[in-house]
Amino acid sequence: MVSKVNTVAFQGIEARPVDVQVMIAPGKMHFSIVGLPDKAVAESRERVQAALHASGLSLPHKRITVNLAPADLPKEGSHYDLPIALGLMAGLGAIPSDVLNDYVVLGELSLDGSLANIVGALPAAIGANARGKGLICPASSGGEAAWADRDMDILSPPSLIALANHFRGTQILSRPLPAISQLTDTLPDMADIKGQETAKRALEIAAAGGHNLLMAGPPGSGKSMLAARLPGILPDLTPGELLEVSMVSSIAGELADGKLTNRRPFRAPHHSATMAAMVGGGVKARPGEVSLAHNGVLFLDEFPEFSPQVLDSLRQPLEAGETTIARANHRITYPSRIQLIAAMNPCRCGMAGEPGHTCKRGDRCATDYQARISGPLLDRIDLRVDVPAVSAMDMIGKTVSESSEEVAKRVLKAQRIQQNRFEEMDADCRLNAHASASLAEVIAVTDLGGEQLLRDAAESMKFSARAYHRILKVGRTIADLDGVATIGRIHLAEAIAYRTAGERLAIAA
Ligand SMILES: Nc1ncnc2c1ncn2[C@@H]1O[C@H](COP(=O)(O)OP(=O)(O)OP(=O)(O)O)[C@@H](O)[C@H]1O
Ligand SMILES: [Mg+2]
Repeated sequence: MVSKVNTVAFQGIEARPVDVQVMIAPGKMHFSIVGLPDKAVAESRERVQAALHASGLSLPHKRITVNLAPADLPKEGSHYDLPIALGLMAGLGAIPSDVLNDYVVLGELSLDGSLANIVGALPAAIGANARGKGLICPASSGGEAAWADRDMDILSPPSLIALANHFRGTQILSRPLPAISQLTDTLPDMADIKGQETAKRALEIAAAGGHNLLMAGPPGSGKSMLAARLPGILPDLTPGELLEVSMVSSIAGELADGKLTNRRPFRAPHHSATMAAMVGGGVKARPGEVSLAHNGVLFLDEFPEFSPQVLDSLRQPLEAGETTIARANHRITYPSRIQLIAAMNPCRCGMAGEPGHTCKRGDRCATDYQARISGPLLDRIDLRVDVPAVSAMDMIGKTVSESSEEVAKRVLKAQRIQQNRFEEMDADCRLNAHASASLAEVIAVTDLGGEQLLRDAAESMKFSARAYHRILKVGRTIADLDGVATIGRIHLAEAIAYRTAGERLAIAA
C-alpha cells in the first residue's frame, strides 16, 4: 500500500509541489529514500526512525521505500522529515490517511520526536493556500506561516506526538497567530549630522525616489554616518512588500522566532563579501545580500575595497530587479529590487581633492583606486556627491539640524505622489527609479526651459542613453519633492549636477 503526503521543494522563493510516496511492502527490512535527495534529505532516515521510536512507534520488519516525486526536481533541506514520518504513520495505521490530503507538510524532526525550526514556512504556506490546502509546520514557524492567509488551516505542533493526538482527536491544536516583531530600538537621527547640506539633500532625494547614491569624501567626513540615517527617513514596508521581503528572509532562515518586521531592509555587508554572499548561491542555494535587501537598501561602505567581480555581479540585479543564479542542473531566481548606497574615499590615502593636499603617488593614487569601480556600474548610480571634510570648528556651535522625522514626512509625501501617479497609469511600479525607459519619458513632463537645458547638457556632456533616462527620473523625483507636476529647469539642473560626478570622482567618471 502506498500513502501520499504533500510537501514542497524550494526553487528561489517559489514552493514547488512535491509528493512524498511511502510504500511498506513485504520483504527483508530495508529503508531507502529515492527521488534526487541531497545529503540532508538522505539523513532523514535516521531522524525519522529515532523520532518514531521516541513517539512509541517502531518500524515494521518490512521493506520501506520513500519516493520524492517528481524525481527530477532536486530536493534540498531537512523539512522532508515530517512528511516522511507522517507517510509512514499513515501506512502503519497510526493516523488516519485521508486527513493528510488536505495539508502541505514540512518540518524537521529531532531524535526525541520534537519538531525543529525550518526555513521557508511562509512561501510554503502561500503556495499551499494557492493550492487550496492547509499547512502543517513546526510550532516555531507557525507565527510566520499564519501571515499567508487569515482563513487558512494551519497546524503547528511542537512534536510528532502532539500532531498524532490532534488527528486522533485526543488533543486539539489551535491555529497560530501571525507574529510581528516590534522593533523598539531607535534609529540614528539626521539631526546628529552637522553641515553636509548637499549630501543630506542627495540622501533625501535618493530616499524619495529610490535612486542609487554614491558618496565620496575623505576619512571622517560622515559618509557612513549619513548612510546609517537612511532607514530613519524611509517609510515602512507596505503589506504587499512586507510579504515579499519576508519570503526572502524566510528562505534565508533570517526571520527571528518566525516573526515578521515591517521595517525596510538595510543590509551593509563587509567588503570582504564573496560573490555567493552578495548575489546568492553556494553549495546550498541561499539568497544573497542583494536579495535580502529586496525592497530596501544595500549599503556598500568602502565601495572600491569590494572585489571588482563582486561589484560587477550587481549590474544585473540593479537593472532587472531580480537575480538569476545558475545551479548544476537548474536555475533559480530571487527578487532583488534594491536601492544601492555606496560610500568611498576618493583615493587610497583618502585625501585626494582636499585643498592643499597632494597624494604621495600623485594622480595614480586616485586613478588606480577609482578604476576598481567599472564604468557600467557607475553608470547605474544616479546621484553622486562629494562629502567634504568638516572641520572641528564647524562642529562647535549650536546650529540645530533638521530631524529625521521632518525629512521622513517630505519623503513619504513625495512617495505618495509617485504611487498615485503610477496607480492612475496602471503601471506596475512604486518609485520613479524603478520606471522603465518608456515609462520615464511619459512621467517626466518637462517645461520649455527644462527641455532646452537637457538638450544643451546632452550635447556638451555626451550622456549615455541610460544616463538620459536616469536624469529624467531624478528630475521627476526632485519635482515630486517640490509637489509640482511639470519638471522645471531648476529640477533638471539639480539632477544633472548630481549625475556629473563631483570633482573627486572626475577620474572614475
Ligand atoms: N557632519 C558631521 N557631523 C557630526 N559628526 C560628524 C560629522 N562628520 C563626521 N562626524 C564624526 O566623525 C565620525 C566618523 O564619521 P564617519 O564614520 O561617518 O566617517 P566616514 O566618512 O565614513 O569615514 P571613512 O571614510 O573613514 O569611512 C562620526 O562618528 C562622528 O563622530
Ligand atoms: Mg565610513
